[in-house]
Amino acid sequence: MLQATHRVVPSNAHLVDGEVYVPGLSAEYVSEKYGIPLCDISKLASAENPHGASPKALAAVAAAHSRLSLYPNWTAQTLREAIAEKYGFDPEAIVCGSGETEVISMMIRAFAKPDDPVLMHAPCFPLYRIYSNCEGRKPVYVPMGKDFDPQVDLYIDTMKRTKPKIAFMTNPHNPSGRLLSEADVRAICEAADPSTLLALDEAYVHYSSAKFGLDLLRDYDNLVVLRTLSKAFGLAGLRVGFAISSNEALIRPMRLIKPTWNMGQLQIAGGIAGINDDEHVNRAVATIQEMRPYVMKGVDAIEGFRAVPGAEANFFLTEILAPELDSTRVFNELLKRGVIVKDGSDIEGLGSRYMRVDVNLKTHMDRFLSALSDIKI
Ligand SMILES: Cc1ncc(COP(=O)(O)O)c(C=O)c1O
Repeated sequence: MLQATHRVVPSNAHLVDGEVYVPGLSAEYVSEKYGIPLCDISKLASAENPHGASPKALAAVAAAHSRLSLYPNWTAQTLREAIAEKYGFDPEAIVCGSGETEVISMMIRAFAKPDDPVLMHAPCFPLYRIYSNCEGRKPVYVPMGKDFDPQVDLYIDTMKRTKPKIAFMTNPHNPSGRLLSEADVRAICEAADPSTLLALDEAYVHYSSAKFGLDLLRDYDNLVVLRTLSKAFGLAGLRVGFAISSNEALIRPMRLIKPTWNMGQLQIAGGIAGINDDEHVNRAVATIQEMRPYVMKGVDAIEGFRAVPGAEANFFLTEILAPELDSTRVFNELLKRGVIVKDGSDIEGLGSRYMRVDVNLKTHMDRFLSALSDIKI
């Protein structure tokens, strides 16, 4: 047996026993564990697109197979050009990542030093915190108010006090789906120290009424907008995300720090076709906008539960009002009935009174509502 003689240790303790990202469960796992046919599972914990992948991206990926023996362009130039053309920016002001998560990780490494503060809400998308911790940067949290009010005044006070190197804003917010208004984001941008990089994460923006982020880039030169093709474009499995800014100086460092060929031929080809598939995006948006009020009203009608108002993403929080229940118990009861949601106990800063539930096709919403009303209080 190999003797443990080495004294190699990671650069910080979070790399030994730090927090690990908890993804939503797969349909296959639940099907096998509970003996439920795959077609009767409702997967409502990963915020995926109800209509699957963009058909244009699928065709482009199939056609790109002939290029698999060739190295891709290391900056995904043609994809950057397509994104730039779509949104009216310079390709040099865009960096692409293997999903938005890779861009978030590059941003933290490129713009914050070890021990530098990184600002975020609590709760928030866990990878802002996990990557900050793993790189030895220090997350600073702004608590949310009643029904996940973003408490913009408190956010600004905390930002002024701690002078973070990066300040994350998520619009709509994950996990609550709540929005920052344009006035809120402008107030944060105006109040920020010029040395703070402002990162506006718009992963779910298509589903919301707050589509102002890219316009703000013309007014603030320390602002970066983060986007992904995983959500409204239906390409979570392809892994395409990007950062865009009007200030190349915020983009170039990320290009230098990124794994050189981080975007493969399939990601580049699928990304170019996907970003231009408005029809697919519009279809997903129409479904979410129709089903969101339907399912939230349905939850409110079930004794012991309540939908947290104000959600403008493709998910919402269900609050568990019945004191005899908690999120893990409800999560497990739903699983037995073929419904996968996100247990609030697995989301730091959220806790056991809440579950995050995706908005999806009516059959899935009806299965969720029927399973929820079936749980005995
Ligand atoms: C707020 C937020 N940003 C970014 C991402 C990551 O997206 P990607 O699949 O592009 O890495 C997610 C995914 O869940 C998210 O919720």
